[in-house]
Amino acid sequence: MSLISFSLTSLDFTFLAVIVSGFVLILTRWNSKTKKRLNLPPGPPGWPVVGNLFQFARSGKPFFEYAEEMKKTYGPIFTLRMGTRTMIILSDASLVREALIQRGALFASRPAENPTRTIFSCNKFTVNAAKYGPVWRSLRRNMVQNMLSSTRLKEFGSVRRSAMDKLIERIKSEAKEHDGTVWVLRNARFAAFSILLEMCFGIHMDEESIEKMDEILKTVLMTVDPRIDDYLPILAPFFSKERKRALQVRREQVDFVVGFIERRRRAIRNPGSDKTASSFSYLDTLFDLKVEGRETTPCNEELVTLCSEFLNGGTDTTGTAIEWGIAQLIANPEIQSRLYDEIRSTAGDRRIEEKDVEKMVFLQAFVKELLRKHPPTYFSLTHAVMETTTLAGYDIPAGVNVEVYLPGISEDPRIWTNPKKFDPDRFISGKEDADITGISGVKMIPFGVGRRICPGLGMATVHVYLMLARMVQEFEWSAYPPGSEIDFAGKLEFTVVMKNPLRATVKHRV
Ligand code: HEM
Repeated sequence: MSLISFSLTSLDFTFLAVIVSGFVLILTRWNSKTKKRLNLPPGPPGWPVVGNLFQFARSGKPFFEYAEEMKKTYGPIFTLRMGTRTMIILSDASLVREALIQRGALFASRPAENPTRTIFSCNKFTVNAAKYGPVWRSLRRNMVQNMLSSTRLKEFGSVRRSAMDKLIERIKSEAKEHDGTVWVLRNARFAAFSILLEMCFGIHMDEESIEKMDEILKTVLMTVDPRIDDYLPILAPFFSKERKRALQVRREQVDFVVGFIERRRRAIRNPGSDKTASSFSYLDTLFDLKVEGRETTPCNEELVTLCSEFLNGGTDTTGTAIEWGIAQLIANPEIQSRLYDEIRSTAGDRRIEEKDVEKMVFLQAFVKELLRKHPPTYFSLTHAVMETTTLAGYDIPAGVNVEVYLPGISEDPRIWTNPKKFDPDRFISGKEDADITGISGVKMIPFGVGRRICPGLGMATVHVYLMLARMVQEFEWSAYPPGSEIDFAGKLEFTVVMKNPLRATVKHRV
């Protein structure tokens, strides 16, 4: 989910500047003519051709910090020109409501992808990358109705229960081996990933296969991370090695994942042959999927892409939420005590269960505040308009990137009291409320809003509730090294994770 994360050394910068300047004179006239015709939202003046690309790269800041700075200068809707790509960034609740809800169909598409992404998305054959249209509708409907509906969600309760038990066991044994300390993100990611894997493939995988699958998907995410030539295609000839490498990573991904797809196929064809096979999986819904406007069902390569999307969507996002959540519980021991008290009074000596969560007012307030203050992604996925339009009096051309900067809304002092403060009580006292689906008003939208809202919202919140509740029920969490202060700086790594990965001290409560 990262936007721009490349960095340039000064040598790279000089080299690129020389190359690019060769093209500048030729293209300047064309560029200024295009600019004159459009009334784009304001933004920092850029260089011809490269636009604001090098200004951003030289700022040395992660993109979300650069955007925050630009927002202060240029306001709630501004333009950045990143080479050939124009980005319009929205950070205001009423503009986002107008664009993504009131005029939702118009703003519901996705822009063209760079060539590397096209390889991995099988030419946009995924829910997240498909243009707004029949392919997107078929894929999304299938994912929502067959996997993420509340009925389906209930059916996978036992998968979640055993993943939670395994999470607690992993934390216990890691703590035993490392003087009572554990890495939080790694364990939370593993738990979320194990649940999604089982839902996706419906067959048992040993720990080694899970780790290998995770490694491959991480390599894919790194490979599709934007490069400078995605913004300046003129430089593509200098990146042929990277293109070859991308094809090789794709081959490795397909070879590995197809093995599991075939195992599931065999298990369905010969019932009883694989004792670990569950009665239902995401793959089963895809094998015979009819997609509007297509004659054939998805081929193996497309199945690999669709499964990878399912796994990626909910792994880093959920893991990141848990890492920030545990960090806040350590930094605010009184909040941790209140949460533990609520767990005790709800479940007593028995294990906390999913059905308990709806009664747990404090847990719900804590998770809402967590998603407000630390949305796992600071930008929604990139939107694009179906046809050129205007917003706030400015032109929004078809095909440009429309980005939504989420903290611009969830930390807006005009709609929140003391927005920088982490305060779950804001949702208990009745002073403030927010609907995370955005239906009854846009105040915090960690899952996006409108037609493209995250279809995993319901499942993801259950995962976050359950993981936090079980982790606090079993362990008391404190800082490592003991007494040290938590550093709340973030860095972009697909999601916005803690800059200093959280290592915590745990004490088993019983
Ligand atoms: C805490 C966890 C999660 C967070 C914070 C999160 C956040 C988001 C956000 C911000 C978007 C972009 C919405 C937009 O384009 O406006 C999104 C889209 C999406 N998410 Fe999630 N997500 C989470 C978990 C999940 C899970 C568990 C799944 C599924 C297994 C999932 C699958 C997707 C898909 C398929 C899309 C694309 C939707 C579309 O383009 O129609 N996400 N998510």
